[in-house]
Amino acid sequence: MKGESLGDAKYYLSRLNTIRDVPTMPEVLLQLNRMLQDEDVSIERIGQLIETDQAISSKILMLVNSAFFGFRSRVSSISHALMILGFNTVRNAAISVSLFDAMRIRQSRGFDVTEFWRHSIAVAVAAKYLAKQIRLSDPDNAFAAGLLHDVGKLVMLQYLPELFDRAWESARRENLSFHEAEHNCLPVDHAAIGAHLARMWQFPPLLVEAIAYHHEPPELAADVELVVTVHLADLAANHFRSGAPLQPDTAEKFPGQEIFVRDQIAGASQWFRELEDEIESASSFFLQGRES
Ligand SMILES: [Fe+2]
Ligand SMILES: [Fe+2]
Repeated sequence: MKGESLGDAKYYLSRLNTIRDVPTMPEVLLQLNRMLQDEDVSIERIGQLIETDQAISSKILMLVNSAFFGFRSRVSSISHALMILGFNTVRNAAISVSLFDAMRIRQSRGFDVTEFWRHSIAVAVAAKYLAKQIRLSDPDNAFAAGLLHDVGKLVMLQYLPELFDRAWESARRENLSFHEAEHNCLPVDHAAIGAHLARMWQFPPLLVEAIAYHHEPPELAADVELVVTVHLADLAANHFRSGAPLQPDTAEKFPGQEIFVRDQIAGASQWFRELEDEIESASSFFLQGRES
């Protein structure tokens, strides 16, 4: 990456550590992440912890009872949700609802925030679908990773505007994607910024990796399958929204997953279209009450 005159990646990432109003996750979610690292933790303890934050509890229940989740019977309490959905799904529900609250960023610099969220939701739904196809043990991780994958763009827009402006201008002038422009002229990209933030939020390492590598697959990752789902979901969402190419060379970037990647790219026009209702349903839940 270029951008010598701008300083280096470390400088910008450490600046995020010191900006006081950088979005934070609710304390209860940080505690939840810590608690879930402990294998012996009980449903009761987790339930009690989440219920100490009424706002987050009620949002989790709204989400799991929404048309998007599609349960027939009502989920009446956090412990009920934990029992029927499991720790990880409830944690990912907590991450999802908290993310939208934390990132209340207004449109600026010609960047359409609502469109940004629609893209993130489309990637979340598509990544979850792909996670089921690849038989990931927890497809909800893919949903959360999809929702988070581009969050570094919003952070850049709001907190490192000199970087955002430079990439935005370069993308427009040279007819590049935002990510190509970042690589041409910035010392750090939105993937690294998003991963840094997710680390600050103490999200599980596999989510941090999926964010960090969503454009460029890692040489060594703990969970390449999760990275593949988010990468492919992003390609598909960009392809069907703006005609960006569904790169056929993608398969070679994921040794061991070539057949899966090729098959999913070949079938994308079918499976992505079949997800449209689900994307719509997720968008109406997450974007309700936001300006369009
Ligand atoms: Fe991205
Ligand atoms: Fe994206």
